[in-house]
Amino acid sequence: MKKTTRLLDLTAAMILLLLYVAFSLPLVSGDPGRRVSMTLVRDAAALGAFCLDGSLPAYHLDRGFGAGSNNWLLQFEGGGWCNDIASCVERAKTRRGSTRYMGKTVVFSGILSNNASQNPDFYNWNKVRLRYCDGASFAGDSQHGNGTSLLYFRGQRIWNAIILDLLPKGLSKARKALLTGCSAGGLSTFLHCDNFTSYLPKNASVKCMSDAGFFLDAIDVAANRTMRSFYKQLVSLQGIQKNLDPTCTHAFYPEPSLCFFPQYILRFIETPFFILNSAYDVFQFHHGLVPPSADRTGRWNRCKLNVTSCNPHQLDALQGFRKDMLGALMNFFRNSSRGGMFINSCFDHCQSALEETWLSPTSPRIHDKTIAETVGDWYFGRGEEAKEIDCPYPCDKTCHNLIPAASATDFLVNLDIWLLMLQAITIAVHSLLFFFFLSTFLVRSLV
Ligand SMILES: *[C@@H]1O[C@H](CO)[C@@H](O)[C@H](O)[C@H]1NC(C)=O
Ligand SMILES: *[C@@H]1O[C@H](CO)[C@@H](O)[C@H](O)[C@H]1NC(C)=O
Ligand SMILES: *[C@@H]1O[C@H](CO)[C@@H](O)[C@H](O)[C@H]1NC(C)=O
Ligand SMILES: *[C@@H]1O[C@H](CO)[C@@H](O)[C@H](O)[C@H]1NC(C)=O
Ligand SMILES: *[C@@H]1O[C@H](CO)[C@@H](O)[C@H](O)[C@H]1NC(C)=O
Ligand SMILES: *[C@@H]1O[C@H](CO)[C@@H](O)[C@H](O)[C@H]1NC(C)=O
Ligand SMILES: *[C@@H]1O[C@H](CO)[C@@H](O)[C@H](O)[C@H]1NC(C)=O
Repeated sequence: MKKTTRLLDLTAAMILLLLYVAFSLPLVSGDPGRRVSMTLVRDAAALGAFCLDGSLPAYHLDRGFGAGSNNWLLQFEGGGWCNDIASCVERAKTRRGSTRYMGKTVVFSGILSNNASQNPDFYNWNKVRLRYCDGASFAGDSQHGNGTSLLYFRGQRIWNAIILDLLPKGLSKARKALLTGCSAGGLSTFLHCDNFTSYLPKNASVKCMSDAGFFLDAIDVAANRTMRSFYKQLVSLQGIQKNLDPTCTHAFYPEPSLCFFPQYILRFIETPFFILNSAYDVFQFHHGLVPPSADRTGRWNRCKLNVTSCNPHQLDALQGFRKDMLGALMNFFRNSSRGGMFINSCFDHCQSALEETWLSPTSPRIHDKTIAETVGDWYFGRGEEAKEIDCPYPCDKTCHNLIPAASATDFLVNLDIWLLMLQAITIAVHSLLFFFFLSTFLVRSLV
């Protein structure tokens, strides 16, 4: 008799556990956003469009539905650049330079979410994430061989190959379209915006939005133009110059590589453009304003990790950076009738791809408007001009002032890491609960 009770107890425990696992799994995979699987671009080989290591490029497509079935949102993935052979060789062995090492699914959240309450204006559109594996913001066209192996610098061809793959899937009949991207992908948005428009029907509504891609031609705290030298090497190594806007490179002769900087291309872009950026963008703070080469003694280390530890002199430098950014945007702010902007004052980088910053009760705001509302109002022409500029730090109380404690080189604009961390925490909590249940029931049924 006692034995049967024990057996029943054990069975009940097992059923409960199974139920628990069944219910917790969708939570684990569904919480931060939907996972969408990868499509390799098979026809890319014929176009010579390869990732750094020679692997095929890829994208992730989440089909639109209902009223959004003919609308398309394309998002360039970000992830820094490689501007010399050594760093490109390293990158080719990672998911930043090869689809072989990439996760075969990615999370679609924020502006890519298909949940109407998290993404009211674009949730039912066709949404595409273009995977980044060329190391030059989808703009290079060259290669490097050392006799035994080849490095492919084919970003421009990858862009082309992905568009040609998507056109017959419905992109060629788009009614509305938005080209976007974050960080190095935000920069791609500036570089490819007008080319994107040229592929779509003349009567389609096409617009572009860069997120954290307004990389400034900044002077660092050691008075060097670190970003300018970096981009100059990149443009030369990866054969980017011939893909830059010819009107711009002509205007900036003899320094055509300046046309890799958004602030110099901006006035040549004809498609309506939205610029989303923090005036204290953390990546630019760490790599443009205070790159490691400009702070060999490490006086900025604490300030870089936590802005409340910055001394008055360091805060002045940060305010100077903001002024320079606003200065570079002034013409656009005053003169661009169809442009939009959201330049807030949070220590952040990439704000459109996470629910927390894109649209949530606690997400950043300017004049009480979230990023999702401002971008939506601009895209659909609702209300007045959508150009928002925040007051200087520390006035904005809606910021999370998120400075990740990762080392500067690790912090290559990696949203996936944040999402993975979120998931890891969720899984850990669930596993703990799981073992708690398991032990409770086992103890109950065995005693
Ligand atoms: C959509 O998002 C809202 C707000 O975050 C959430 O409460 C709801 O559960 C989500 N719906 C689905 C189907 O995931
Ligand atoms: C060529 O490059 C590959 C990696 O890109 C390296 O393993 C190899 O040693 C190099 N060969 C020579 C001769 O430099
Ligand atoms: C654009 O024109 C095509 C062909 O005339 C038509 O089928 C389509 O509905 C139009 N699209 C828009 C957004 O008006
Ligand atoms: C867009 O880019 C592709 C290849 O990169 C090129 O063939 C095409 O002519 C470009 N379109 C325009 C309008 O520049
Ligand atoms: C930065 O500038 C200093 C002088 O202001 C110079 O000594 C140094 O070599 C420069 N560093 C780089 C990386 O250009
Ligand atoms: C930054 O420093 C302040 C004051 O020293 C502290 O209250 C805050 O928790 C720190 N923030 C982070 C993210 O470490
Ligand atoms: C706006 O455009 C006009 C005419 O092209 C130009 O003269 C003016 O300087 C521009 N405004 C700013 C702030 O650059």
